[in-house]
Amino acid sequence: MGENQRLRFPFDFKEIEPEEKSEIKRLFNYPKIDLIRVGPKGYLMPRPYLEQAENIYNLPIRPSDVYVASFQRAGTTWTQELVWLLANDFDYETALSVPITHRYPFLEIFMLYTEWRKDTLKNIDKIESKEKKEKILKMLEVMAQPVTEKLAAMPSPRFIKTHLPMSFLPPTIVDTAKVIYIARDARDIAVSSYYHARLFKVMDFVGEFKDFWEIFMNDRFVQTPYFEHVKEAWNLRHHPNMLFLFYEELSKDLPAVIRRVADFLGKEVTEEQMTRLCDHLSFENFKKNKSVNYEDMKEFDIVSPKESFIRKGKANGWHDHFDEEMTQQAERWIEESLRDTDLRFPHA
Ligand code: A3P
Repeated sequence: MGENQRLRFPFDFKEIEPEEKSEIKRLFNYPKIDLIRVGPKGYLMPRPYLEQAENIYNLPIRPSDVYVASFQRAGTTWTQELVWLLANDFDYETALSVPITHRYPFLEIFMLYTEWRKDTLKNIDKIESKEKKEKILKMLEVMAQPVTEKLAAMPSPRFIKTHLPMSFLPPTIVDTAKVIYIARDARDIAVSSYYHARLFKVMDFVGEFKDFWEIFMNDRFVQTPYFEHVKEAWNLRHHPNMLFLFYEELSKDLPAVIRRVADFLGKEVTEEQMTRLCDHLSFENFKKNKSVNYEDMKEFDIVSPKESFIRKGKANGWHDHFDEEMTQQAERWIEESLRDTDLRFPHA
């Protein structure tokens, strides 16, 4: 897209309510994530997103691009690996040696790490080991710099991860490239996001799950409202370049999903290749696979040693975290949120 055809980012933003702000500050221990609401649906975004919103909206899309999109904790990493291996003719050697974060630039991760980077750079000289210092600087470059320039320099085909709602992406995206969106039961997303918010120090959630549930259900967590995010993608599901998946489908019948993704990408899968891919993608193997389990983040002090990125891997695990009141609340919320759509989540 040439400069003269550059589109204006179509959405306004507004400050969040003081009461919301103080509730968020009370429960998230990293004080520097400053949140704003963007667009008519009021998606909650870290403020640095605004600086790049228009660049992302105008990102030049290539026909060979593959985007894996989702709300966080929907099974993005699982889907990314599945897609990458099918698209790259089962190149396990690369998959097992190159971290998924390097194979898939994460479009908007910078927005969470802009302030974190400044803080780390201020204190970088306190780190004695030259090797560790260099590693941290490299990691910050990946995490905190907007990736639009890096993407321009990347060879095709590019694989890109995003948690942005579809309306924040370039309007030509599904007409030009392939998009695979994965959704998951809102209650499982809430539980998984709660542990994730305790894992990543850039959030450092200090409340109980019940507090998190309130935050999530009331659209006070980053990139909520959840159902609006899913519905935007659901509305595009019949587009030939869009594949809409559910975590529950991967969980119930992984080979069936692999076949659907293979068809979507125009790839064949033999029985032997299927067996190996299912084994590679199994929860047990994923948990110990250093290319996908984010365990290396522990070295950089950006995640807590007490939690794991690849955590439980269960559909319907939410039952263990919800009391009767929350269960009923969730049922009402889900029913209300799905009233204006034919989107229905499959039973796991
Ligand atoms: P839980 O926290 O419920 O275990 P994302 O990659 O979008 O952040 O999603 C992470 C969620 O997917 C986590 O859910 C994680 O355990 C689960 N997951 C990742 N790999 C998986 C696999 N191979 N099998 C089942 N679940 C997996």
